[in-house]
Amino acid sequence: MRVLGIESSCDDTGIAIYDSENGLLAHALHSQTVLHQQYGGVVPELASRDHVKYLIPLVEQALAQANLEKKQLDAIAYTAGPGLIGALLAGASFAKSLALGLQIPALAIHHLEAHLLAARLEEPALDFPFLVLLVSGGHTQLIEARALGEYTIIGDTLDDAAGEAFDKTAKLMGLPYPGGAILAQLADDYQAKGLPAITAFPRPMTDRPGLDFSFSGLKTHALTTWHNSTKDELARAAIAHAFQQAVVDTLTIKVKRAIKETHAKSLVVAGGVGANLALRSNLTALLKGAGGKVYFPKIEYCTDNGAMVAYAGCLHLLAGEKDASQAIEVKARWPLVDIS
Ligand code: KG4
Ligand code: ZN
Repeated sequence: MRVLGIESSCDDTGIAIYDSENGLLAHALHSQTVLHQQYGGVVPELASRDHVKYLIPLVEQALAQANLEKKQLDAIAYTAGPGLIGALLAGASFAKSLALGLQIPALAIHHLEAHLLAARLEEPALDFPFLVLLVSGGHTQLIEARALGEYTIIGDTLDDAAGEAFDKTAKLMGLPYPGGAILAQLADDYQAKGLPAITAFPRPMTDRPGLDFSFSGLKTHALTTWHNSTKDELARAAIAHAFQQAVVDTLTIKVKRAIKETHAKSLVVAGGVGANLALRSNLTALLKGAGGKVYFPKIEYCTDNGAMVAYAGCLHLLAGEKDASQAIEVKARWPLVDIS
């Protein structure tokens, strides 16, 4: 079965082709980061228009890469939500029209399900059940994945997502959008130099039971510390380091609790913050100590991409799912539990 995957929920147009026999055949991506940079955040209308512009060239690129003709596709999988409504509609209307023209099914994929399945693209041996830490610009969730389509969110953020907190903290210290990765780099360099750590940063919500997160107070704490500092490069790096340590510690403490509660032996880390080296190192040590294993998909599969959508579509197709209707339906909000 060959499935074309289309991801357009936010600011990346991702197209890929996944083959149930031979794995990933092609993978193409267009990032809109530069387009939105001057506005300091994603502008939905510009995002939608850019998806429209890049969908066809990227599909052609993926087909050429896989050495396939359109008619050799068995299904089209597209992200139907959650996400920006215009951006989702651009991908969904294109996917449904192409599928109709080719007379093949178009499968609506939940963006978060695609993220949590992404680790299996490279590690087919990774079997259910597993625990997922989804940490992106829009989400911070702990998910128990029991089987395909059977997911329970056991921890969620009450305010900012982890990546959002990284980006906002970076911005308030004058770093360009999206500043999360730059902030992390400053933090890592500061750590490598062995400079003294600022220790006063809180580990939010770790002093009470439960698996939920809250990062907005940490961001405010960083802002206050920045205003009271010398506001130079060294101060910026010291705050970046303290902030990163606080986020990473908080995530690690909650993952440790979730492992204890669920008895999970495998942990999948998905989403852009999964690129964070300090987080990777802490979670690797935690899982090793717990006799389990942690899976970090390659960065290109951690962040938004078409491969995870093609793969999720392929699994649903093999499970016997069909196109429900010819209507083009997308959802800006779509709780993951609703697909179970
Ligand atoms: O999953 P993703 O590519 O996009 C969505 O949110 O959908 O995640 C992007 C987020 C951004 O907030 C970005 O700043 C953050 O991931 N990020 C990082 C790092 N690299 C990217 N955060 C912390 N450390 C990093 N190394
Ligand atoms: Zn995403």
